[in-house]
Amino acid sequence: MEYSIHPLTQEDEPFLWQMLYEAAHMAEEGNLTVQDAMNHPDLAKYVKNWGSKNDIGFVATLVSSNQPVGAAWLRLLTDENQGYGYVDNQTPELAIAVLPEYRNQGIGTQLLTHLLAAAKASYPSVSLSIRSSNPAWHLYKRFGWEVINNSETINRVGGTSFTMKLNLN
Ligand SMILES: CC(C)(COP(=O)(O)OP(=O)(O)OC[C@H]1O[C@@H](n2cnc3c(N)ncnc32)[C@H](O)[C@@H]1OP(=O)(O)O)[C@@H](O)C(=O)NCCC(=O)NCCS
Repeated sequence: MEYSIHPLTQEDEPFLWQMLYEAAHMAEEGNLTVQDAMNHPDLAKYVKNWGSKNDIGFVATLVSSNQPVGAAWLRLLTDENQGYGYVDNQTPELAIAVLPEYRNQGIGTQLLTHLLAAAKASYPSVSLSIRSSNPAWHLYKRFGWEVINNSETINRVGGTSFTMKLNLN
């Protein structure tokens, strides 16, 4: 399977909603749809009006069909607009997902490699929120993300999540 990686544009917003649904593990909750992610204010802030000046992101598309299969993106969510992985007003938050049938084949790693290289020019660090049960943990540790002390919280579905931070310099 051949894929290529490109910067996200405003036209990718519909695909980002789908990826947000995957990143928030909403499929595991039963009857939820992408519309439920769009209607949830604390989730919607990661995607709504994608393409503003501080946004950075990449999409992976299949070479054969141009179909998008994964995306990784950063957004600076500050002050009263904080996200689940807030650490400070200089640190954007990561969201990442790959369509289920394309996972574990290196696409997430490639997306993060592109994203972090681009982010270095604009940001000192990147944070994220992760459920304690999520195997994406291995991926983040591999890139150097570290858990923030005392960041354990109860998440949207009543489980445990941690905040992680990666310094880019
Ligand atoms: C996390 C995710 C984007 C990684 O993308 P990917 O293309 O599967 O990643 P890669 O193939 O490059 O790397 C796989 C790594 O991710 C880990 N991983 C995370 N989620 C995984 C999953 N659902 N299945 C298999 N491996 C997974 C593996 O342990 C592996 O780590 P390792 O190589 O250090 O052993 C993707 O698995 C996904 O979309 N998961 C669901 C959404 C999600 O949890 N997003 C993050 C929210 S914090």
